[in-house]
Amino acid sequence: MKERISSGIEGLDKVLNGGYVKGRSMLIAGGPGTGKSIICWHFIFDAIRRGGTAVLLSLDESSDIIMEDMQAFGWDPETAIKEKKLSILSGTLRLVPRESGYDYLIAFEHPLFREKPFTVPRLADLVKQKANETNASHIVIDGLGPLLEFAGNRFEVRQMVYGFMRELISQDSTILLTHELRTLSGAQNDEMPYFISDGVIKLDMIYSTGDYIRTLRVVKLRGANHVMKPVMFRIQNDGIVVYPDARLPE
Ligand SMILES: Nc1ncnc2c1ncn2[C@@H]1O[C@H](COP(=O)(O)OP(=O)(O)O)[C@@H](O)[C@H]1O
Ligand SMILES: [Mg+2]
Repeated sequence: MKERISSGIEGLDKVLNGGYVKGRSMLIAGGPGTGKSIICWHFIFDAIRRGGTAVLLSLDESSDIIMEDMQAFGWDPETAIKEKKLSILSGTLRLVPRESGYDYLIAFEHPLFREKPFTVPRLADLVKQKANETNASHIVIDGLGPLLEFAGNRFEVRQMVYGFMRELISQDSTILLTHELRTLSGAQNDEMPYFISDGVIKLDMIYSTGDYIRTLRVVKLRGANHVMKPVMFRIQNDGIVVYPDARLPE
């Protein structure tokens, strides 16, 4: 049996048969507003509650906004940061076309990228360095999209992102990644970067009798057993609650 690590959400741990697989990577994919970031925050603050440490790399929000949103759910990122239990690295990536292909223009709140140009390996280095420095048990990369999308050559991007993940994987830390699918639900045509991670959870919203129901489904969990069917969840003032036994409308 592979060692599991709590997602910080009771019902989700049940669906996963104990939690995420320790030392592996898990991808949370879903449309905008489906709860990807909040799932990550549960993971982070559960780590901190248990005496662990977390590094959060966000590629689509500034740390101020992230912290505000975390606080709205009752978490205390400020204290966690002060006590060096949480590190937030944040920035947004934008693509700039050049004659000879594409280049990254990066807006990143880190001095490393003010001096030197941005590269994916350098970003991996930054996260790895932070993780080592704080002995991080939990690593979260929220918003992989920019890394995946921004290049003319898909193969090259895959290689880069693979490299990025290889750099980060160590025996001790568990990695949670998110990827935003373009459509709110269904997302049939959205390409999900399954190949990147050891596991995938897909978040959805289904319309039923006048309202949307949030669902999640463990699509893949390499080398481990899990519930296959979609399960219902809610986002509340204190975060996410998963209902593994609730019946979904047909
Ligand atoms: N207090 C709350 N009660 C209910 N739903 C909320 C609350 N706060 C946020 N939400 C829902 O959570 C969504 C944002 O979740 P988030 O994890 O940031 O989405 P994602 O990262 O997938 O874009 C919002 O669009 C909203 O629907
Ligand atoms: Mg988000």
